[in-house]
Amino acid sequence: TVSYRIGVAGLGTVGASVVRMIARRRDTLTASGLDIRVAAVSSRDRSRDRGLDLAGVTWFDDPVALARSGEVDCVVELIGGAEGPAKAVVEAALQAGKTVVTANKALLARHGAALAALAEAHGVALAYEAAVAGGIPVIKTLREGLPGNAVARVYGILNGTCNYILSRMEREGLTFEACLKDAQALGYAEADPTFDVEGFDTAHKLAILTSLAYGTAIDADGVSVEGISRVQPLDLRMADELGYRIKLLGVAQASEAGIEQRVHPTMVTKSSAIAQVMGVTNAVTIDADAVGELTLIGPGAGGEATASAVVADIADVARGIVRPTFGVPAAAMRASERVAMQRH
Ligand code: HSE
Repeated sequence: TVSYRIGVAGLGTVGASVVRMIARRRDTLTASGLDIRVAAVSSRDRSRDRGLDLAGVTWFDDPVALARSGEVDCVVELIGGAEGPAKAVVEAALQAGKTVVTANKALLARHGAALAALAEAHGVALAYEAAVAGGIPVIKTLREGLPGNAVARVYGILNGTCNYILSRMEREGLTFEACLKDAQALGYAEADPTFDVEGFDTAHKLAILTSLAYGTAIDADGVSVEGISRVQPLDLRMADELGYRIKLLGVAQASEAGIEQRVHPTMVTKSSAIAQVMGVTNAVTIDADAVGELTLIGPGAGGEATASAVVADIADVARGIVRPTFGVPAAAMRASERVAMQRH
């Protein structure tokens, strides 16, 4: 049995779920040869009652100290944000030769290539299944499931908050603002919900999927982005009368000219598979030459679903599996091959 000590930096909705899940699944994990223990945690607010049993767990006020601590083999970064403490924790952990598991799509979208190079230089894994489409194992699918394929297109519903808002606006005729408040109360939205509703969160996730699909350096600035904050109940009613729904889609598409990445509200015919995806659910379609079209549908946000993906990564890295972060070694990643958005 492999004994593996993890440090969880950030005890928000997802962090608390990860700690509980590891305890709850202890017998099954042990039976599969993995003795995974939460050895340390860090969070800004020590006094908050999260209903967690942290007996025997070392508490760090400073997440970077947790990352450097000799008590942990793997650092799970669940702080969020592209800069600041999240970035400092991930860099400190990798520099100390520790494996990192993160759910931080903004960090990867901005600094993924440099962090992948850092992980490789230290011979450790940087795992991020939870960063894209919550509980859906889409990173595994793209990185490990399709070596015999060339990917023509990847697209989908990548933000649970937006899909939840659009679904409720359509079904209940509610305003955008009322639905956003509910999404925040349910813990789906980012700390700054602008990231969700203006399409940036979708763009970050899309940029990660594009890199995996095409072996190119992440190019978040190359995504053309329009969010849903200007969508009105009337737009949804008119789309409905014409036989459509409105979904916020992220699309990455390769052509001879290069790779196009775009995020915008899209009319989809009501009979299509993607139109059936309602609420906080995400969907990702991968169009590949050998296997054809694959669609994965599942919860895109929420503590338990996201923790499911985090724990999958922890189980992977606990077995000592180290893969190139974005499918190809950082040094071999091609330039982004950006092309301007085409209107379709
Ligand atoms: N705010 C994100 C969403 C959380 O709504 O999808 C998961 O990344």
